[in-house]
Amino acid sequence: MSTIDSVLTETRVFEPRADFVAQANISGMAGYRALCDEAERDFTGFWARLARENLQWSRPFTRVLDETNPPFYKWFDDGELNVSYNCLDVHLANGNADKTAIIFESDDGSTTRVSYRELLARVCRFANGIKALGYKTGDRAIIYLPMSIEAVVAMQACARLGITHSVVFGGFSAKSLQERIVDVGASLVITADEQMRGGKRIPLKPAVEEAFAMGGCEAVRKVIVYRRTGGDVAWNDGRDVWMHDVERGQPELCEPVQVNAEHPLFVLYTSGSTGKPKGVQHSSAGYLLWALLTVKWTFDLKPDDIYWCTADVGWITGHTYITYGPLAAGATQVVFEGVPTYPDAGRFWELIQKHKVNLFYTAPTAIRSLVKAAEASPPHHPRNYDLSSLRVLGTVGEPINPEAWIWYYNQVGGGRCPVVDTWWQTETGGHMITPLPGVTGLKPGSCTLPLPGIMAAIVDEAGGDVELGKGGFLVIKRPWPSMIRTIWGDPERFKKSYYPEDLGGRYYLAGDGANRDADGYFWIMGRIDDVLNVSGHRLGTMEVESALVAHPLVAEAAVVGRPDDLTGEAVVAFVVLKRARPEGEEGARIARELRDWVAKEIGPIAKPKDIRFGDNLPKTRSGKIMRRLLRVVAKGEEITQDVSTLENPAILEQLGKSL
Ligand code: WTA
Repeated sequence: MSTIDSVLTETRVFEPRADFVAQANISGMAGYRALCDEAERDFTGFWARLARENLQWSRPFTRVLDETNPPFYKWFDDGELNVSYNCLDVHLANGNADKTAIIFESDDGSTTRVSYRELLARVCRFANGIKALGYKTGDRAIIYLPMSIEAVVAMQACARLGITHSVVFGGFSAKSLQERIVDVGASLVITADEQMRGGKRIPLKPAVEEAFAMGGCEAVRKVIVYRRTGGDVAWNDGRDVWMHDVERGQPELCEPVQVNAEHPLFVLYTSGSTGKPKGVQHSSAGYLLWALLTVKWTFDLKPDDIYWCTADVGWITGHTYITYGPLAAGATQVVFEGVPTYPDAGRFWELIQKHKVNLFYTAPTAIRSLVKAAEASPPHHPRNYDLSSLRVLGTVGEPINPEAWIWYYNQVGGGRCPVVDTWWQTETGGHMITPLPGVTGLKPGSCTLPLPGIMAAIVDEAGGDVELGKGGFLVIKRPWPSMIRTIWGDPERFKKSYYPEDLGGRYYLAGDGANRDADGYFWIMGRIDDVLNVSGHRLGTMEVESALVAHPLVAEAAVVGRPDDLTGEAVVAFVVLKRARPEGEEGARIARELRDWVAKEIGPIAKPKDIRFGDNLPKTRSGKIMRRLLRVVAKGEEITQDVSTLENPAILEQLGKSL
């Protein structure tokens, strides 16, 4: 946290330019304040107005917010609509049928464009196909697909039928996939033969087979396979079916199933502070409303803009800012299959130039790695590309260090594009605290001010407001439409994790520490729980620990984060084996084996960067692992804290040594 605290000394402010303010969707501080005041004055009236003005309801709602059973809040809950209708059909009715919805850029550089009319037809054909296989509203589908038009089609087709989807990131292991299939009770899996990333083929269907072999997936009747590479895959005749065969001969019209506003659109798994990932359940109407509004507000989206969010649809950013928000807003967006460094480190800049991207949204980790790459390979520096189309730049997922911010602002944005540093979470559904490009003076490293209607605050352990300048827990004091509804199948955990009694059970606890400066700007200080943020991906330390102790050689493991220049945080694992502590060659070999093991158990993103072996772990006399000491050891710093409660102080020196 110390490195991030130092960000608070950043004093530069970048005010929005007058010409930008003049044309902005929310224009100037006065425009922003007017919306905030409206929300303060008449909270439910504010949301009701936005929901009526921005969504098409098949059955209008009369109730706005039901707070009778906190924290299980309901929004617009006697209304009905269909999410896919609101993302696709509405644009045909508006005369935008031939507008490009998606510009798909494949790993190898070929481009496919689909219009709103074509996308709707594909979604309808696929939805009709899955309906013909016997699937219906209320069923759950696991989607395990690469970045593709097909992934968007699959998600939208589920939404059209009221099938709740759960997308599993293609980089997750068979084990993670199996856990999610079981937990969500899926009866359908939609996958691909293989995915292409950086010129390499990575198998997907084989991971599905492996997941099935682990057992517990008996409820899955069909596996639909999108043929991406044509690679060889094992085939189970009664169960497996090609996506193109599912679509074949299906009509291009599919009546949208009108669902209740609260109908679960999707469940997305994310890491928490226990070993088991949480299935974050989102609603239909409230979620879509905020996805749509934040695209228009935060990115200042205009009808002719080309928008590009580089996230994967396996994460919440890809859900809200690829599949749902931009389509609901009728945007033209780039969907990219590949990686930022293939065929070279100029790929992002080349794509911005090629497609004349106006609004660009990526993660600090990507920026940091591209800063490095641009220095190492000057031809791929952004200055060698025509990036003059850019108007707004965004970041998401982790704190951005001021150096990376300034580079992004100057080298990518040419010193002319506002950088919106958006703070939000899987659970919040959409942006919560973020600059607005035509409103907010920017301070590098600060996510600045809450969006209108979002009652963000910083409180102490007892839930009392802290003074400006004092750190505390980031909370949201009032419900908002796109908030998490529950943890799938575990309402108690939902309550305990997000609405703890100590805070009175009424405030949403984000799990981040934060600070506000004298201007009221928010500065995120990082997680307050045992969740790490590695390259913008959430990872529970307990999750990695459970994976490690599942290895036959491991007796005990403790995992902590260490600040890392490139990935933000890096995973450091302290491991005690069931046999003598290994050294030298043997130690290196076992460390390699454990890294691969974690990749297989969770996914490559969870691989510990550093593994230290010890005869034991630092524990208190009552047997509790002293993680705060391990964090210091992981950084290679001198221990200055009190170690008097430590049972075995000598162990610290042993763990301090890297292999
Ligand atoms: C962190 C990603 C600082 C934070 C949308 C949060 C951020 C977690 C920012 C959620 C930001 C996200 N500045 N930290 N702009 N955005 N975070 O669920 O710790 O993958 O709690 O959602 O990422 O990660 P998640």
